[in-house]
Amino acid sequence: MLLRQCLGNSGHIAILSLHNQSRYQISDNNMNNYKRNILITGGAGFIGSHVVRLFVRKYPEYHIINLDKLTYAGNLANLSDIEQAPNYSFVKADIADLDDMRHIIRDNNIDGIIHLAAESHVDRSIRDPFTFARTNVMGTLALLQAAREYWESLPEKFEGKLFYHISTDEVYGALELTAPQGIESPFSTKASSEHHHAYGEEFFVESTPYNPHSPYSASKASSDHFVRAYHDTYGMPTLVTNCSNNYGPYQFPEKLIPLFINNIRHRKPLPVYGKGENVRDWLFVEDHARAIDLIFHKGKVADTYNIGGFNEWKNIDIIKVLIRTVDRLLGNPEGYSDSLITYVTDRAGHDLRYAIDSRKLQKELGWEPSLQFEEGIERTVKWYLDNQPWVDRITSGDYQKYYEEMYANR
Ligand code: NAD
Ligand code: TYD
Repeated sequence: MLLRQCLGNSGHIAILSLHNQSRYQISDNNMNNYKRNILITGGAGFIGSHVVRLFVRKYPEYHIINLDKLTYAGNLANLSDIEQAPNYSFVKADIADLDDMRHIIRDNNIDGIIHLAAESHVDRSIRDPFTFARTNVMGTLALLQAAREYWESLPEKFEGKLFYHISTDEVYGALELTAPQGIESPFSTKASSEHHHAYGEEFFVESTPYNPHSPYSASKASSDHFVRAYHDTYGMPTLVTNCSNNYGPYQFPEKLIPLFINNIRHRKPLPVYGKGENVRDWLFVEDHARAIDLIFHKGKVADTYNIGGFNEWKNIDIIKVLIRTVDRLLGNPEGYSDSLITYVTDRAGHDLRYAIDSRKLQKELGWEPSLQFEEGIERTVKWYLDNQPWVDRITSGDYQKYYEEMYANR
């Protein structure tokens, strides 16, 4: 059953069962008072919740509709601070349900879509690739088709509309670890940015050919192609951005940073895949949300922008920073949790290095990350330590089963 949670001006949350005629319309009385009606999918997830919060607060003149299936990764508690805002509504729905997408988009006069809903964890995609194809590929296609049908039916057609698809740098595949002759890694390079410490001479740029390796990245690559095909074939105004690894508050503790913070706190082993030599390029989630806001409003239709902070880290080094930070904040002696590091069997098809070149976004739209990594990690670790009830709720029940399945025989 599709449920709709809508927030009236009274500030009370109403949960409505959608079984009568105008069942997909969020708010009969004030829908037309807004300058724009923007659908954000996956808004109850990690990055989506930061985007929803930013838009709800910054644009009281927009109606922000958060559409989410509330899978294991979707959590409305991520939005408890803004759920009473008059310009915010929530719809529980599955993006792969074409009929529901048609109704939701049409009945709410949606003119902009920021699409983040996805299955997002590589390890889960290795175990269950079909769920990734269903949501990431078929779900994106259903959303594209529903938007296209509605927008083409309007007198102004695609004028003033935008389908903005959020993707990942993982679609580009993996980069090598290299260094100029006689120089040790990580080396300082201006090839990408003024103060960049790089683990290789190559970077992902917007024209890098797609070469995904995991079922997750293959499904995201496929969805990116569909989005661009809807522009090229039907003239639909679309945009794609490919971002590097995000970190920050509200990330589900299956991903490296929140998982390890939680394990250090509970003195559980820290399962390092392989030798811990893989390199990721980390961006604070609020900086990604700021980039999405900028690109949604100022980005060039049909274009692609890479988003990243020129911030490459080997996994093992980031793990050491996490250990030091958690131990310091908990008042443990230095080195107290070092022994938790446990090398385990590597992830199948583990991409060696991701590194984003985001100079196009910097040059064309003036975006820069606002935070240095040290500050971002400090804020992140503090947030998880201060919000233990949020972590506890998420890591009870199904999460325990997942953890045992994923790590028991590793
Ligand atoms: P997440 O797993 O935290 O959240 C995904 C959200 O999508 C959840 O709220 C979930 O309930 C919802 N969802 C899943 N299937 C759905 C369906 N069928 N219908 C409706 N909702 C559904 O993911 P995230 O880390 O916030 O990533 C958001 C987006 O950003 C994804 O598209 C991901 O590919 C992309 N991305 C993520 C990162 C990263 O580091 N996390 C980096 C670059 C790009
Ligand atoms: P993750 O957070 O899953 O992001 P992604 O695979 O999308 O980059 O993993 C980040 C890196 O950390 C990746 O190289 C895999 C590694 N990793 C571990 O070593 N142990 C773990 O338990 C997890 C979840 C990840």
